Amino acid sequence: MQSDFELRFDLDMSLMKTLIFDLKNLRGAADLLIKGELVAFPTETVYGLGANALDASAVKKIFIAKNRPADNPLIIHIANVKDLYEIADVGSDKKAWVEKLTDAFWPGPLTLILNRRTHIPDEVTAGLDSVAVRMPQSRIARKLIKLAGVPIAAPSANLSGKPSGTRFKHVLEDFDGKIAGIVKSKPSKIGLESTVLDLTTDIPTVLRPGGLSVSELEKVLPEIRLSSGKVQIAKSPGMKYQHYAPAAKVVLFEIDAIIRIPEYVDFYKKKNVKTRVIKPDNIKDFNRNLYEILRKADKDKVAVLLVAAVSEADIGLTVMNRLRKSATEIIER
Ligand code: TXA
Ligand code: MG
Repeated sequence: MQSDFELRFDLDMSLMKTLIFDLKNLRGAADLLIKGELVAFPTETVYGLGANALDASAVKKIFIAKNRPADNPLIIHIANVKDLYEIADVGSDKKAWVEKLTDAFWPGPLTLILNRRTHIPDEVTAGLDSVAVRMPQSRIARKLIKLAGVPIAAPSANLSGKPSGTRFKHVLEDFDGKIAGIVKSKPSKIGLESTVLDLTTDIPTVLRPGGLSVSELEKVLPEIRLSSGKVQIAKSPGMKYQHYAPAAKVVLFEIDAIIRIPEYVDFYKKKNVKTRVIKPDNIKDFNRNLYEILRKADKDKVAVLLVAAVSEADIGLTVMNRLRKSATEIIER
């Protein structure tokens, strides 16, 4: 017993104390970022795990804390549109697109991929010639970035491969004792990550559907391409890894197959497997709650989640993208 306790004590000593901040003491959180520490913070999409984007050793800590593969680049978050031009080399050929998009959608759930400027550390871009930049809508996020006075590199605040953190408690679950600070706020309004739009190509290409729908983008730019699975792997390194997956096995039922859910419920019941059915009846609540639903299933030790597909219109496209990635089995009819 004694040695067990000592071992645990030693491990605890190696953990750090994670400080919790709120809107009223953002200054403390910003100071940690300036010192090269990690601070998780809310955005309208999901919580982000932030570091000073110009400090390579701070950025490295993100990869360690998340156990994230080093070849998966990060999004740089800014608080003023003009800061984009310090980070990205917006050529004259891309200027019109960038102006239209930032006028229409920033601050908001849209990440732009552009050629990088050379002072951006390789750790942020995973050595790519391009860089991802976003100006979040969340006032708290923008205030924190302003107070830090530097651009903030931030992936979603979750252990690599797990559903993104959309609640303060998710971030605490994954990072308590592993990062210097967390800014506590309400659940993320959108609950799904930003739309990633590649502007380095001849036609603007959606690499990851997200909180801003493709139909909104099409109102501003006439031609938008949706990248197919294969192209995604080449262009957006993050796409090749397992994502958004709870420990539970996710079985996704396409619309035509939803009537088969009871059959599967019976099948697993007979085998004594703890099963839960997820049938969204309201897409807005569903996108906001999806990652909480997946995480809750793990907490409740659910072994199999039977999930009904939603229509792929607007934010439904993003919901289905995430569900397909978290699914181990897809039932078509
Ligand atoms: O809503 C969001 O985007 C959240 C919040 C915190 O802003 N962030 C987020 O970051 O989802 P992360 O790291 O989980 O996802 C970033 C995605 C990854 O798929 C990554 O591969 C892609 O953006 N990405 C980043 N830089 C890229 C680049 N230069 N070229 C292509 N894809 C890039
Ligand atoms: Mg992520």
